[in-house]
Formats: sequence, structure tokens, C-alpha cells
Amino acid sequence: MNSATALDLHGSRILIGTGLLDRCGPELQRALGTRRLAIVTDDTVAPLWGDRLAAATGDATTPRFIIPAGETNKTRKSWSRITDELLDAGLGRDSALLALGGGVVGDLTGFVAATYLRGIPFVQIPTTLLAMIDASIGGKTGVDTRAGKNLVGAFHHPALVIADTATLGTLPAVQLRNGLAEAVKHAVVASPAEFTWLDSHAAELTQDGGPSTAVAERLVRTHVALKADVVARDEREGGLRKILNFGHTVGHAIESLSHYELLHGECVALGMMVEARAAELAGIGEAGLADTIAALLTAVGLPTAVPRHFDVDAILAATRTDKKAREGRVEYALPARIGVMAGADRAYGTPLSDDVVRAALSATWSA
Ligand SMILES: NC(=O)c1ccc[n+]([C@@H]2O[C@H](COP(=O)([O-])OP(=O)(O)OC[C@H]3O[C@@H](n4cnc5c(N)ncnc54)[C@H](O)[C@@H]3O)[C@@H](O)[C@H]2O)c1
Ligand SMILES: [Zn+2]
Repeated sequence: MNSATALDLHGSRILIGTGLLDRCGPELQRALGTRRLAIVTDDTVAPLWGDRLAAATGDATTPRFIIPAGETNKTRKSWSRITDELLDAGLGRDSALLALGGGVVGDLTGFVAATYLRGIPFVQIPTTLLAMIDASIGGKTGVDTRAGKNLVGAFHHPALVIADTATLGTLPAVQLRNGLAEAVKHAVVASPAEFTWLDSHAAELTQDGGPSTAVAERLVRTHVALKADVVARDEREGGLRKILNFGHTVGHAIESLSHYELLHGECVALGMMVEARAAELAGIGEAGLADTIAALLTAVGLPTAVPRHFDVDAILAATRTDKKAREGRVEYALPARIGVMAGADRAYGTPLSDDVVRAALSATWSA
């Protein structure tokens, strides 16, 4: 395929480029053979990109299964609705699903594919920055429950990932920023050079109308490679992969207390601030680390101060219900400095005292 970058992760190809959607037919065939295809997407993405994908499959009547957009639909209810509809449509073990959309569609479709007729292949076609550089990479699929996000799921690797950066052209700025939070995270946990690049391209990344094609492609390519590299070295989260959890322990707590009104990326930005401050207070992170991260988050339009109406003790309590807490003991993935994570000898999990987390939260309160 012209001008596409290809990476491999667990035997599946990850294609990155502009305009891939229109010419992905041969790639789909190569990855899936002659399987019957079905598109799963949401009602925002369907009218924007659904026809383009259907046309590329060579059959404009490729069936489409559409969920309402939004995190509140990443549920077992949507899972059961889609599986019933697939069964009603007579799709058998010779079929494959194309997940066209953001992380919600990708996680849900992946979980449907993992379980439908005991498992059929699927392809990730991410259309948000967050889904391109994070959710579509690594094989985690699942749905949310009353008790928390992503608590029911499976590891199921996509047969192929197609990240067409042209789809970012219709993405609202606020959603682009959402993805940039994970980009900042990747840079902090794994790449000082990328931290510097993000810093020097912040204005371009957040300009009106979005970044240029070249910049968007460069961003996605680098961050897919950063995440894929960590995942390849630790597929099932025995150690290294936990570094990707930086910002997410406190971030998830704030996200759930906000009843998902704050975007995931905004919560991760706040989580990174609190956790970096906690790392400094605990003598793990070098002095000035949190301020350095704050400057980049501000430059790309992400928040750095926790809104005052959040309660410190409620956040602390919520961190304990995070699924990554072990027997109620919360372990944090903490940076020592930009590009270097602490705790390699402890599988990158560091317990922190409540006092330290409290002090870090208080220091991150909005004025
Ligand atoms: N599996 C993983 O490893 C992993 C990693 C990170 C996040 N996630 C999950 O990803 C989800 C968040 O993903 P997200 O931020 O992509 O959210 P999302 O899927 O809800 O997409 C955000 C919004 O953008 C819209 N949209 C998508 N593509 C668009 C486009 N090209 N143009 C215009 N609008 C578009 C969607 O309809 C939605 O309203 C969460 O559920 C999170 O748990 C999973
Ligand atoms: Zn995240």
C-alpha cells in the first residue's frame, strides 16, 4: 500500500497513513481471506465514514451494526444487542467484524468478536486519535459495568489495524486533545525525545482545523510504535506494560467521580499531574518533574488543576476500587524523570501512603 507505515504486533499488521480507508480492500482480503464482513460503528461515525469503508470492502451493501455514540453505550447491553443482530443476520464462523470508530466501538466490537461463536477475527479501524495511538493497540477488549470501566472483557488481538489519519479531519478539537493526553503519557513513560517533539509542535497540533496531514501521520506513527513496543515486551501486563498506567490510577478515580462528564484524556492529564507530584513528594521523581509535565499539558490545551468540587477523600477511596488495586493496596506507576519510570524491580508498581497522595492532590487543586 502506498505511503503507509506498517508495524507488526503479535502477528497482526498495523497500517498508518492518510487515505487508507478508501484503499483497504486488498489489505482486508490479505488479513481475512474471503470472510463475510460486517461493519460495527456508532451513529456519529457511520454517516461520516461508513460508506467509504463499505465501498472499500468491494460490497457497498456490507451490513452495518450501529450503536449510539458515547461511553455509556460500551455495555453488556450493547454487546448482547450486537451479538443478537449478528445471529439474526446469519453471520457464521466464516465472518469477521470491522470496528470503525473510537475506542468505545473498538473495545466493544473486539469483545463481541472475542466471544461471538467462541471467537471470530476482527479488524480495528480507529477514527479518533485516542483509539489510533492507544485503544486499538494491544489486544484489550471489553465493556463497562456498574462497578467500573472495562471490568468485563478479554484479550483478543485484531487481525489488522488500519489507522487512516484522514478520519481525524472530522474529529472535534476536544476529542483530539483527549488523544493528546495519552501521547503526553507515552512520552513521559518512554521517550524524552518525543516529549521535546510534542513540546515544540504543541501549537501545530492544536491549531484550528487540526494538524497537517504530515504532522498527524508523524504523531500517530510514533505513538503507535511507542505503545506497541511496550505491549510487545509484556502482552499480559506482568510488568512493563504497567508503565502505561501512569496517570490512570488517580485519573480513573476522577473520571468515575465526574460520572464520565470529564473526558478520559482530561482525567488522565489531571491524574498525571497528581501522580507526578506524588512521585516528587515521595522522593521518587526528580524535582520539577510535575511542572515540566504541566507546561506541556497546558501547551496542548489540557487541564492541570483538579476542579475544587472534587473531594480529596472521595478520590482516595475511588483509587482503591480501581481494578488494578491489589487487595485494596493501590500501586502507582511513577516516573523518575521524563522517559524513565521508577520501580523496574517491583514490576513498576509503587505503593504510596495516603498522606503523600493527599498532599499531591492538595497541591493540584484549582485556585
Ligand atoms: N483497549 C484499550 O487498550 C484501551 C486503551 C485506551 C482507551 N480505551 C477505551 O477507549 C474508549 C475511549 O475512546 P475514544 O476517546 O475514542 O472515545 P469514543 O469512541 O467515545 O469516541 C469519542 C467521540 O468521537 C466520535 N468520533 C469518533 N471518530 C470520529 C471522527 N473521525 N469524526 C468525528 N467524530 C468521531 C465518537 O462518535 C464519540 O462521540 C474508552 O472506553 C476507553 O476505556 C481502551
Ligand atoms: Zn487512557
